Amino acid sequence: MADLAARHARVAARAETAVLEALRSGRYIGGPLVSAVQLQVSTRMGWAHGASTNSGTDALVYAILALGLPPGGEIIVPAVTFFASAGAVVRAGHTPVVADVRSDYPNLDLERLPLRPSTRAVMAVHLYGEPCLLPGLDLPVIDDLAQVIGADPPPRNGTIGAMSFYPTKTLGAAGDGGLVLTDDADTQAAVLKLTHHGMPANNVHERVRGHVGANSRLDAIQAAVLLAHLDDLDARVASRRATAARYDAELPPWVHRLPRAPGHPVHQYVVRVAQRDALRQHLADRGVESAIYYPIPLSRQKALEGIAHAPTPEADRFCAESLALPVHECLGDDDASAVIDAMRSFKGGAFSP
Ligand SMILES: Cc1ncc(COP(=O)(O)O)c(C=O)c1O
Repeated sequence: MADLAARHARVAARAETAVLEALRSGRYIGGPLVSAVQLQVSTRMGWAHGASTNSGTDALVYAILALGLPPGGEIIVPAVTFFASAGAVVRAGHTPVVADVRSDYPNLDLERLPLRPSTRAVMAVHLYGEPCLLPGLDLPVIDDLAQVIGADPPPRNGTIGAMSFYPTKTLGAAGDGGLVLTDDADTQAAVLKLTHHGMPANNVHERVRGHVGANSRLDAIQAAVLLAHLDDLDARVASRRATAARYDAELPPWVHRLPRAPGHPVHQYVVRVAQRDALRQHLADRGVESAIYYPIPLSRQKALEGIAHAPTPEADRFCAESLALPVHECLGDDDASAVIDAMRSFKGGAFSP
């Protein structure tokens, strides 16, 4: 599903030189490489400023803290997403209210958001790269942009966003990293201060928007790697789109393709099928990897037990029927053909979402 060594080979000369320079510089925390990542990635995502963190999860936590909401409110999160979208809400002192997803796509359903007087914000996850647009909401929206880099145009709803540089993301580091996105210079400064122990000067620690700071910084070595990968981003997205176009055209008719908005970056290529687990085994027997993102909806995660969620029937179905096929930029034409051949040799049953 990813080939990180092959991906490194695409940028090896630049990345290795940049890492060596960073090592020799003696400047490991902050500095020009980190500032360059903040500026270049935020610009690429369509925001004025970026504040780096040491993971995408922390980027979500600090994005929520920067909203300065009164403590203990409820934040709506979709039932189909990586756990961090909800875990970050808890870490930021709020309660995640898990909402069911649309029947045609596993993003939040604007028409059926479980809005209550206690709702303080909504977390819009742009899952697999598909925009989750929630126009007209009279509430702060946190954009979870972890899976959407490379989208053209990049989607957004609100005044704050967060992204992840986890290695398998389309723009991934050689370790962890994340970025909070904002158009407001004060918010950028607030996040940078929060992630640096609320420390405006040595040995002085202040609360920022009501919160005590901690340590969550991107380091210069990861920044050096990220800048090298950023040069390859357009080529990666083009390659993913070409593979997706082949799958669209050549997979058998019993495979239900998820809709993709124009300019979709194809972070994942996910299909829905009637006999998912048998198909997965069939592919594995032919040496074709696949993955399930995500097999358990958040409404059924043990870590969130005891939090009042309505049932999530659409998410339950999606999690039982969906399968991600390999689509990363290091796949060759022959690899994509092998996926298509293995899919065609399965006797799939009719499926309607
Ligand atoms: C939708 C989503 N949100 C949040 C995260 C958390 O990012 P990280 O793994 O960098 O903490 C990820 C990725 O892992 C993700 O896919």
